Amino acid sequence: MIIQKSTNPRISTFDPDNFSFGNTFIDHMIICEYENGKWGDVQLVPYGPIGFTPAMMGVNYGQACFEGMKAYKDKDGHVFLFRPEKNFQRINKSAKRLAIPEISEDIFLEGLKALVDIDRDWIPHGEGMSLYLRPLLFATEEALKARISEKYMFAIVATPAKSYYTAPVSVKIADHYSRAASGGVGAAKAAGNYAASFYPTQLAIEEGYEQIIWTDDCSHEYFEESGTMNVFVRINDTIYTPKTSDKILDGVTRDSFIQLAKKRGIELVIGDVKVSDVIEAQRNGTLKEVWGVGTAVVTSIFQALGYQGEHLLLPELSDEESFAAMLKKDLVDIQTNNAEDPFGWRV
Ligand code: COI
Repeated sequence: MIIQKSTNPRISTFDPDNFSFGNTFIDHMIICEYENGKWGDVQLVPYGPIGFTPAMMGVNYGQACFEGMKAYKDKDGHVFLFRPEKNFQRINKSAKRLAIPEISEDIFLEGLKALVDIDRDWIPHGEGMSLYLRPLLFATEEALKARISEKYMFAIVATPAKSYYTAPVSVKIADHYSRAASGGVGAAKAAGNYAASFYPTQLAIEEGYEQIIWTDDCSHEYFEESGTMNVFVRINDTIYTPKTSDKILDGVTRDSFIQLAKKRGIELVIGDVKVSDVIEAQRNGTLKEVWGVGTAVVTSIFQALGYQGEHLLLPELSDEESFAAMLKKDLVDIQTNNAEDPFGWRV
């Protein structure tokens, strides 16, 4: 690894009690370039802009994908990654779907560990605090032919994170737009999936909702995801979540929630989640909770569902009554070394 330390570190100006997630970047980043058919050396360099022209293929054709993961600091200052091998596997799954050359586990993990290690002082400690890591792959060739790029960059940037979206939010169940299509790129963490979600989300915000529950692209009859997250529904005391497919991202938080729910002996069904069943359950009072899970926010609890012009309220549950809150606590306790790690998730 080539290491070039920052000569102008900003860590002394970082206030863990007052920062903005996603706009504050740590002192260093990882970059690694692909050309002539192979990945080069991993470089740890000062964080900052990199020069590209507007003819860069990644910008023109969207050949780009990313990951979201976190590093945590426990009360004794020890630093942990959470299930990084899952993100490594998924970035290569996304890369394959987008015809981007896969990266080796060494490039991914050694880059992550070196970055987190050199900038460990940037990891805030405390409830809901972490360092959000953003590994990404994008096409860098300067060319406008619509074909697979011959040059790429792998990079990792990072921003301190605190819990956000904590207040329950209202979400609109999609009945026109969709996030993914069969045979498409929904299961990849493709940059374009997010771009395509912004306009429908903006329309939902104008209607008074914060996010969209994405439904299938054919009939809008089945739940798929929610905002940038996977979605869970609780009817009576059973949890339901859509099974993964080529339209649904295989979320690391989703998988962790499933394993934690099983460990607690909660009844869990992984399969089709029908919009009509959820609406029916809301009407007959058996719908207890609907929530989203993802790396960035961990859990976003919903207070109301917007469906075909109706605003359907969900019950207000205490943390003791809520499966979402209970499973979130189980997860965060493991992530932050506040509890045993029976699954071996901490690295
Ligand atoms: C995540 O929760 O991992 C996400 O992908 C959210 C991110 C787009 C901010």
